[in-house]
Amino acid sequence: MLDLTRLFENNRAWAERMTRDDPAFFLERSRAQTPHFLAIGCSDSRVPLELLSGAAPGEMFVHRNVANQVFPADLNVLSVLEYAVEVLRVRHVLVVGHYGCGGVQAAMDAGQGQGLGLVDNWLGDVRDVQRRHRDELRALPTVDDRFNRLVELNVLHQVVNLARTPVVQSAWARDATPLLHGAVFDVRDGLLRSLVTAVDGNDKADALIPLA
Ligand code: CO
Repeated sequence: MLDLTRLFENNRAWAERMTRDDPAFFLERSRAQTPHFLAIGCSDSRVPLELLSGAAPGEMFVHRNVANQVFPADLNVLSVLEYAVEVLRVRHVLVVGHYGCGGVQAAMDAGQGQGLGLVDNWLGDVRDVQRRHRDELRALPTVDDRFNRLVELNVLHQVVNLARTPVVQSAWARDATPLLHGAVFDVRDGLLRSLVTAVDGNDKADALIPLA
C-alpha cells in the first residue's frame, strides 16, 4: 500500500529513471508542453488516464471530476477546455467514463431515496440522462446491464455537452478540430473501449443521442 513516505521515494526513483533514460527529458519539458490530447475522466483512483494510455509527461492535458461531467456552467472544465483548444491546440478531446463508476451508481441510487449530500447536486445531469433513457434502460435484463449502459450513455451525453460549448463551436467554425471522442474504461480487464470517435461537427454530435 502506498504511504506518504513511499510516495516521495517513488517520485525520486521515477525522476532518476527518467533522467537516466533521457538526460534532457525534464529540461525539454520545462520549456513548453505540446499535448495532442485533452482527456476528461472520472476522479476514480482506478482510472489513471495517463497510465492506462501510456501517455508520457507533456502528451496529455487532463481534467478529472466525479463521473466525468462536462457542465456548460462549470468554469473549471470550461477553462481547461479553452486553454487546451485555444492555446495548446489539442487535436483530440476524449471523454473517458468507466464501468463500476461510483458517481453513476450514486445517481442511480438517488432515485431510490438514498441521498449522499453535495455530490447529489453534482450528479443531476447523470440523473437526467437516466430519465431520458428510462425506456431503453428498463428493457435491459439486469441491474448490472442498466448500470453499464448508463455509464455509456453518460459518456455520450458529455460528448454532446462538449460539442455545444462555445469553445468547441468557435473552434469548429475555424476548422474541423478538435475531434471529440467518447470511450469507456473497464476496471475489470484494464481495457479502453471506444464508444464514439472523430466527432468533428454539429451533425455528428446531434446524431449521437437518439431523440428520446
Ligand atoms: Co467514476
